[in-house]
Amino acid sequence: ADPDHLALLDLAVATARETGRMLIDERPAGGPDVVATKSSATDVVTQMDRAAERLVRARIGAARPGDAFLGEEEGDTAGSTGVRWVVDPIDGTVNYLYDLPDWAVSIAAEVDGAAVAGVVEVPRRGWTFTAVRGGGAFLNGEPIRCTSGVPLQKALVATGFGYEAARRAAQARVLAGVLPNVRDIRRNGAAAIDLCQVAAGRLDGYYERGVHHWDIAAGSLIVIEAGGRVGGLDGAPAGNELTIAAGAELFGPLHDLLAPLGPARD
Ligand code: IPD
Repeated sequence: ADPDHLALLDLAVATARETGRMLIDERPAGGPDVVATKSSATDVVTQMDRAAERLVRARIGAARPGDAFLGEEEGDTAGSTGVRWVVDPIDGTVNYLYDLPDWAVSIAAEVDGAAVAGVVEVPRRGWTFTAVRGGGAFLNGEPIRCTSGVPLQKALVATGFGYEAARRAAQARVLAGVLPNVRDIRRNGAAAIDLCQVAAGRLDGYYERGVHHWDIAAGSLIVIEAGGRVGGLDGAPAGNELTIAAGAELFGPLHDLLAPLGPARD
């Protein structure tokens, strides 16, 4: 792996760890307050999402002042170095709100638009997932791999849902077509963690419509470095329309199960 990319990863990991600790230590006793909503009344922002993004921007901005930044809460900041940081300060905000353990700090570094380093820190579980382009994927420093040789009918597949009612009705129709054809479905509530569980071979696959770039930037690199594939419908890149992730062999069958169900329709 490129030493410059390893240096970016070191900064990402130190920042994600510090932010994760802050989110545990400073979580208000009665839970965080909902300070805003986004696409619907259940798509919430808490003061802790904002505090976490401020902390990430402060640490990365101090170390690398010229870099660009894309964050879920504060949006785009232009830079001059060719490096852009893509940050979800809390992926799985609803889990954090309810004090369920599956939420993460997700930080990716991109060079000229391609991810070169990524960390997904899951503080309540003690999991640090990392990858550098060309250097493999790791959980707490140990190498991880996607599953292989699992037929679709035996695949454990995670998904997620958007926050708008009409979108959810469409997602429920797609789910009804998937469920009879796989081992089972999980809805764990954090896209970045779903991707990392695919990378670790703890899930065979994952698909979701409506994810944002900050949800998947780090996790996608981690899946690819774990030998998996990440993409969208009919060869499109992964993204808002559809994101599919799986081991290299399962990707095609999962895609072909989803495509006729119209996963990006309605
Ligand atoms: C959400 C989570 C969830 C997924 C949603 C995302 P957030 O991210 O990743 O699992 O189903 O699509 O928006 O809002 O908690 O950062």
